[in-house]
Amino acid sequence: MKLSLAIVIGLVASVPDATTTSYEVHEKREFTNPVWVSLDIELNRREIVPVSIGLTQQNLDNGHEYLMDVSDPISPNYSSHWTPERVAEGFAPSQETIEPVKAWLVEHGIAEDRLSLSKGSGWIKFNSTVGEVEDLLKTKYELYEHSESRRAHLACHDYSVPASIRAHIDFITPTIHFDAVVTEPKKKRQFPESVVAPIRSSSIDIPSQIKQGPALKISSFGATPQASQFTLANCNSYITPDCLRALYGFLPGTLANHLLELWNIHLRPCFEYAIALVYPQKVTLYQVGDIVEGGSFNTFPDALDLTYCTSGGGDTPGIDPSYPDAYSGGTKACGTITPASVISTSYGYNEADLSPAYATRQCNEYMKLGLQGITILYSSGDNGATLQRGAAGMFNPSFPSTCPYITSVGATHIAAGNPVTAPEQACMNVIYSGGGFSNLLCIAELQSTVVAHYLRDYKPSYSSTQYNNSKKQRGYPDISANGANYLTYVDGVAQLVFGTSASSPTVGAIITLINEQRANVGKKPVGFINPVLYENPGALNDITVGTNPGVGRAGSVLRRVGYDPVTGLGTPNYPKLLSVFMALK
Ligand SMILES: *[C@@H]1O[C@H](CO)[C@@H](O)[C@H](O)[C@H]1NC(C)=O
Ligand SMILES: *[C@@H]1O[C@H](CO)[C@@H](O)[C@H](O)[C@H]1NC(C)=O
Ligand SMILES: *[C@@H]1O[C@H](CO)[C@@H](O)[C@H](O)[C@H]1NC(C)=O
Repeated sequence: MKLSLAIVIGLVASVPDATTTSYEVHEKREFTNPVWVSLDIELNRREIVPVSIGLTQQNLDNGHEYLMDVSDPISPNYSSHWTPERVAEGFAPSQETIEPVKAWLVEHGIAEDRLSLSKGSGWIKFNSTVGEVEDLLKTKYELYEHSESRRAHLACHDYSVPASIRAHIDFITPTIHFDAVVTEPKKKRQFPESVVAPIRSSSIDIPSQIKQGPALKISSFGATPQASQFTLANCNSYITPDCLRALYGFLPGTLANHLLELWNIHLRPCFEYAIALVYPQKVTLYQVGDIVEGGSFNTFPDALDLTYCTSGGGDTPGIDPSYPDAYSGGTKACGTITPASVISTSYGYNEADLSPAYATRQCNEYMKLGLQGITILYSSGDNGATLQRGAAGMFNPSFPSTCPYITSVGATHIAAGNPVTAPEQACMNVIYSGGGFSNLLCIAELQSTVVAHYLRDYKPSYSSTQYNNSKKQRGYPDISANGANYLTYVDGVAQLVFGTSASSPTVGAIITLINEQRANVGKKPVGFINPVLYENPGALNDITVGTNPGVGRAGSVLRRVGYDPVTGLGTPNYPKLLSVFMALK
């Protein structure tokens, strides 16, 4: 009976009929990374596929408002952060979402006893045949192979669901999503060298299909410089912790308070800078992924939130590795980590490799962390405004920098010959600050005025086929800090490090020092800082000189006053930021 119903629906798919429920395309792939090659083979329709339906969560529409309620300096509830329990309960999918999706599946022959609802109710999962899911979603699957790892991946170009239940579904896998984890279990590690070992060379092995890679470049000295050269007079050649203190006006930490940690992800040389800047505060290195399973950005919300862990939460099988990892040496963290107050990550994805629903779901996890009073910083990338591989003419923005619920950090430098007291410029030394506008994620209200001013006063010469110029898309970075000539030693060898990877932990250190001062007078950590930044641009040093030409593009505007998608609002002025944050509740 149910089987015959499925077949009838299958036929209807090819002969549109106004009497059936009207289906609408739910997601469509706009871009296929050329590393994935269709094998062009006939699929066995009886092959079993594990299907996961990501249900829409409750109250996400209010998430922005909730976050502003605790982060906006003018809100009476500023810093009244939520508990993790309140966040989990506040957003779980409702019965009004779960029931119609189940009813649709049952109606199409997927019996209720085949369906399983994940912990936290985020996903409905079932095993299906290729034929069944093709009929259900009115699509056609193809088998692809990753041209480097030879990993196979099942995907379709688009898929449809009844119009009446679209609002209850974020996305379904496997469908259009493409960035499968290419690390083969138990094989040689393919995750970037920098994640687990000190960096020894500038050549870092990055799985090219998913990540933009660590935002970092290294240059070696010809002759080893003398320590006597590392003075404030030479900050334009060698950045030291003292140079950063002189640039932004802060002092070493004072409290050895274990509750206020700066949590830095990846890249030890920069991470070690954070240690120097916040000492005696503690810094924790959080290593995302492991040498067995690799990792993804969802590994991070996984570690913090049990309901997000594995494909029962926000993970997508094929994109995200599953944790806890059963293999020896694998990561065990799954909803067991209490996050630090400030978390800085020096890594990014190509936004184009993700679907809007996938990026939005992860972005909302950052909103939830902000609600809990955690500051999330991401480096904006080191390649300026870069073209998208394989997509003619489009810029390639970096995710999660394009998520409006994180603070994206770009890079500046001290121009050659300038003293440490001179205004910095957008970094044009070895690297260019990543920046631009999202193609997927909308602007937050707090940014809309400055972005509109930028696009009015310094209108880039690019068209809407190159970036979304509607003024309604999130711009990044939000803020910037020095990202050139960081003096580091690896195995006793001096190296200079360049990158927004250095800028982000530096901003993290400054926020941590502000948290320390607030803790001293019994105040909460600052949490999501963007509302305070955009409402107090005067607490930042506006960067007005420099550009960020990317691969295949000339630079955009050379001189800008106010916000720009190269250095954001500017670099931190610690004394001013401190006084703004200390005046808040
Ligand atoms: C502040 O928090 C209280 C308690 O959670 C809530 O009732 C109130 O609506 C919040 N205020 C604003 C302005 O949202
Ligand atoms: C799908 O099948 C696999 C392998 O038999 C099993 O481990 C898994 O639990 C099944 N999933 C569901 C949702 O029934
Ligand atoms: C640009 O962004 C706007 C506002 O979010 C959106 O409506 C529009 O579809 C986007 N344009 C393209 C080409 O994606």
